[in-house]
Amino acid sequence: MMVEREQALRVHRQRFGQAGRVFAAPARVNLIGEHTDYTGGFVMPMAIDFQTVAVVSAREDGRAVFYSANYDEEAGFEIASLARAPGGSWSDYPAGVLWSLGKEGIVVSGFNMSLTGDVPLGAGLSSSASVEVATAMALLGHAAVELPLEKVATLCRRAENEYVGAKSGIMDQFAVAGCVANRAMLLDCRSLEYELLPLPDQVRVVICNSMVKHAVATGEYGDRSAEVEAGQAVLRRERPGVKLLRDATLDDLEVCRGMMSAASFKRCRHIIKENERVMKARVALMEGDMERFGGLMVEAHASFRDDFAASCEEVDLLVAIAMQQAECFGARITGGGFGGCTVNVVRAEEADRFVAALRREYAAKTGIDADCFVCTPSDGAFALAKKGGAL
Ligand code: GLA
Repeated sequence: MMVEREQALRVHRQRFGQAGRVFAAPARVNLIGEHTDYTGGFVMPMAIDFQTVAVVSAREDGRAVFYSANYDEEAGFEIASLARAPGGSWSDYPAGVLWSLGKEGIVVSGFNMSLTGDVPLGAGLSSSASVEVATAMALLGHAAVELPLEKVATLCRRAENEYVGAKSGIMDQFAVAGCVANRAMLLDCRSLEYELLPLPDQVRVVICNSMVKHAVATGEYGDRSAEVEAGQAVLRRERPGVKLLRDATLDDLEVCRGMMSAASFKRCRHIIKENERVMKARVALMEGDMERFGGLMVEAHASFRDDFAASCEEVDLLVAIAMQQAECFGARITGGGFGGCTVNVVRAEEADRFVAALRREYAAKTGIDADCFVCTPSDGAFALAKKGGAL
């Protein structure tokens, strides 16, 4: 599933006729804690074994040239006069990171960068954060600047929020940068403090792509976050001590019920309960109680579907089929919603059987051939860089 270092270097050499330095960032899957990040809540992602590999080398004319191997396209920018100008294409993400580094006062000299990757697009596995963080690591390497994890994650988020124009939270960039092999990350999205929690040997994390495309940059994600923000604004105004939705209880929400739309009420109820579920899931994981962990995933899915109204028929079907399999502890939608993937926690020795059953039954009911992956909890970009550059 991973792009080989040699292959990435070959792509770069063919394109630019130069050797280069190699940096990489993985994709991520979120185990639990959905749509909690942009109101300062809790999430539990892990990095997975798909990657974006960025190879960077110098050029002398002060230009930034990005080449995407997947799209077989090049995009060039004048670094000194780079302005916010998203064009709605893949190059917005790396260009946004370059722009965001500039906002940080980091001067990058001319470069060629090739991007090679195998992260499924529009599947809710953070292909965009993977590109952003790989680009950031490569540009920081090129500029010989070291930044801490929080800084890299926040500047990549800014690229996505302010350059690309997608209103995402911090989870994806932070996870893709900071996760560590064989661990899930429990992240407090307000303080950016995190814990790395071991996943028990007896389980595997299986990702199943409904093949229904989702895109954070288009409307629906923004609609939901606007509904959440409207509810949060009421709580902040009415309830002392509530700065972010993260601070609110269900009682607070109930008191404010009549002051917000029915939609905002439900979206906020999902988030308040989801934060509680993440904390319970943390305890379940630490105690190795996967039945309990799986039960929380199932509750999280129902809440995402009913209160957050961001699932879809195909994804609900995948979850229902998964939960009929004896080896499955829990299943739920993962990522922004409106399609994309489910995440399933299953008994390790039955993972292959699980995948076969899920694909068979999903195809029988929908005619869709779903991609499924038994994932390895992987290193984030920082751990990869520490181990000698990349890969
Ligand atoms: C997308 C966003 C994240 C997060 C999730 C939902 O992946 O990029 O910031 O909000 O959706 O949990």
